[in-house]
Amino acid sequence: MKANRFQDKVALVTGGNSGIGRAAAMMFAAEGAKVVIAARRKDLGDSVVQDIKNQGGQAAFIRTDVTRREDIESLFEAITTQYGRLDCAFNNAGVSSSAMRRTVNTTMEDWDWTMNTNLKGVWLCMKHEIPLMLKQGGGAIVNNSSIAGLRSEAGISIYAASKHAVLGLTRAAALDYAHRKVRINAVCPGFIHTPMLEEPWQLNPKIQDLTREMVPMKRFGKPEEIAGAVLWMCSGEASFMTGREMVIGGGQAIHS
Ligand SMILES: NC(=O)c1ccc[n+]([C@@H]2O[C@H](COP(=O)([O-])OP(=O)(O)OC[C@H]3O[C@@H](n4cnc5c(N)ncnc54)[C@H](OP(=O)(O)O)[C@@H]3O)[C@@H](O)[C@H]2O)c1
Repeated sequence: MKANRFQDKVALVTGGNSGIGRAAAMMFAAEGAKVVIAARRKDLGDSVVQDIKNQGGQAAFIRTDVTRREDIESLFEAITTQYGRLDCAFNNAGVSSSAMRRTVNTTMEDWDWTMNTNLKGVWLCMKHEIPLMLKQGGGAIVNNSSIAGLRSEAGISIYAASKHAVLGLTRAAALDYAHRKVRINAVCPGFIHTPMLEEPWQLNPKIQDLTREMVPMKRFGKPEEIAGAVLWMCSGEASFMTGREMVIGGGQAIHS
């Protein structure tokens, strides 16, 4: 029987039009949530909304660039006007590719693009999510970090810095609001088969096999394998968990 843990709840998923975010949006909707998908590509956003509606769920796409303050303000104005509440938020929007170079070869543009999306975007969203949740007496936030938020490899310095910072932000914000029933946790995925993972395969197809070999389970994760954990952390079943990260990587980072 399908669980209905999010019946009549409102759930925001940034980057909900692709990959891990798309899987989370579909799952929230399948469990009764009214889902708000925030990202830049409208065509992909509209197609997820349609898929959700075809399955009898409720969803809306609001075009948002998480690096832009005005976009974030409009997003939360729309959520307030349309729903008047926010129960769950998955701050998932992120980028990686331009940051995937050795430190000296990265540029100011790489830094700004990666940090503005992966870190400032999460912070800006939380600044608006938390007051809505406080007003209604509680809520749950999950931020998407990475195994690269716990440890690093060569060639990912800016990405790793952004994802380490997401964990620091998550822990500090969780302590700010633990006594007021807003729980804030993070997920740290390993290699998950999404468009982001595929990006470097276009440049060098050998990367696909090399990265798969790094996973003790010798396979990539599926977006749904992260989304399921995100939903659990947002649910009442995780009611005593805050300020922590869940690592899901097929055995990667066991020794972090
Ligand atoms: N796949 C992995 O192996 C892996 C591992 C660890 C962590 N992660 C993290 O998981 C998250 C999702 O990535 P994914 O693997 O699912 O890749 P993906 O399919 O490329 O999804 C990235 C999502 O972020 C959105 N996004 C990017 N920049 C944005 C911006 N400025 N404003 C709003 N939305 C933006 C994209 O939508 P638009 O382009 O339409 O805006 C897209 O929905 C990222 O934070 C990533 O770092 C992924």
